[in-house]
Amino acid sequence: MRRSNSVSIVGAGSRYTPGILKMLVSEKERFPLHRLTLYDNEPERLEKVFQYGQILFKEYYPECEIIQTLDPEEAFTDIGFAFMQIRAGRLKMRESDEKIALKYHRIGQETCGAGGFAYGMRSIPAVVDIIKDIRKYAPEAWILNYSNPAAIVAEATKRIFKDDYRIINICDMPIAIMGFYAKALDKDVSELEPRYFGLNHFGWFTKILDKKTGYDYLPELQKIFKTPLAAVGEIHPLDQSWFDTFRFMSTMINDYEDYLPNTYLQYYLYPDHLLEGENPEYTRANEVMDGHEKLTFEMLDKVIENGHIKGTEYELKEGIKDGHAGYIVDLADSIAYNKNEIFLCMTENTGIISNLTEGMMVEVPCRVGSNGVEPLNVGKIPTFHKGLLENQYAYEKLTVDACLEGSYKYAWQALTLNRLVNDTQVAKKLLDEYIVANKGYWPELK
Ligand code: G6P
Ligand code: MN
Repeated sequence: MRRSNSVSIVGAGSRYTPGILKMLVSEKERFPLHRLTLYDNEPERLEKVFQYGQILFKEYYPECEIIQTLDPEEAFTDIGFAFMQIRAGRLKMRESDEKIALKYHRIGQETCGAGGFAYGMRSIPAVVDIIKDIRKYAPEAWILNYSNPAAIVAEATKRIFKDDYRIINICDMPIAIMGFYAKALDKDVSELEPRYFGLNHFGWFTKILDKKTGYDYLPELQKIFKTPLAAVGEIHPLDQSWFDTFRFMSTMINDYEDYLPNTYLQYYLYPDHLLEGENPEYTRANEVMDGHEKLTFEMLDKVIENGHIKGTEYELKEGIKDGHAGYIVDLADSIAYNKNEIFLCMTENTGIISNLTEGMMVEVPCRVGSNGVEPLNVGKIPTFHKGLLENQYAYEKLTVDACLEGSYKYAWQALTLNRLVNDTQVAKKLLDEYIVANKGYWPELK
């Protein structure tokens, strides 16, 4: 048995796991598995996802054994891959992050602004502990980590697990955005290849190339996306926030003509506008808890009650690609079979972007194969983008310093430096309130 045939999903109680399971089923010929392990620290959620998984695999993937466990040794021994998607503090703490920030008229988005800071301070210790467990039982397993806030988590894993090239930090947002580009060009996203630079949730596409011909569609896409996408809702089953986000791309593209922006730049470049749209009583966490999360678990309950999937409304349809889950299987496949496909990954700046600080965890196109990630060269970037990125990275770095050293001073500096806080006194108030709310999750700050 090749080790790569055995995968463990870390944080398997997530609302995203059913999508990953379906994806693994539909990709079973390309990326065949012998065993799939569902691992979590929340037995109830895990049990539900597992029961669903058992039914699904019995009908669609009997060749693959599926197990659940709360025990790291069982979860990680002999695996080839860990897909890691944890949310420290779950959506309840996401809600707390958002609402505390909004009290001070600041954005508390899960990865941007004060919310990203609070979540980062929870996520680092949790991710690091799990990776230590994985390394204890599977020293050579590939860890595909997409736990948020990914930029901060990547900065921490780079420092703690130095030279461990089998930890790859990656995000699905660029590929999701490229899905819209592909649709607009009437192409499949697999026909396109990005050129891009930035930090996670903070970057720009510089080229969108046709894989076969090398033709750059960027100018064409800029033209198309200058008009708000009225059809966005039909393209994707989006909820209101995502609908607004994708529509807002056109504003950014009209204002900034150089490249095509990652949607997350809206928070950093239009904070006043974004704040206006926020409801301090009902935030994104509420929307997710009442929406996707609820629907997913209701679906699981129904399937479990039915005891089967085929012949019901939950039957798997051919050819449907789940964006969130799909790219992670593509990545694992590229590693396992040394395909050297291009993915946007977070990797250490070793001169890739020549006028940015060395060591910065940049998000750039990388070839990914059985030797890990090999970044493509980017070169020099313009002053505007450099200024934004250096500021953001300094904030991210200080957040990691604060967390690993238990430093109140660095935490305060980090928040002050964040573009979306940007005030020493507000930063202090936010920090003090987050410390209380995050008791048991954050390291103690002195
Ligand atoms: C995108 C981002 C993820 C993020 C997710 C949030 O997929 O790349 O990093 O976690 O959106 O979506 P949500 O529906 O939870 O707001
Ligand atoms: Mn992301």
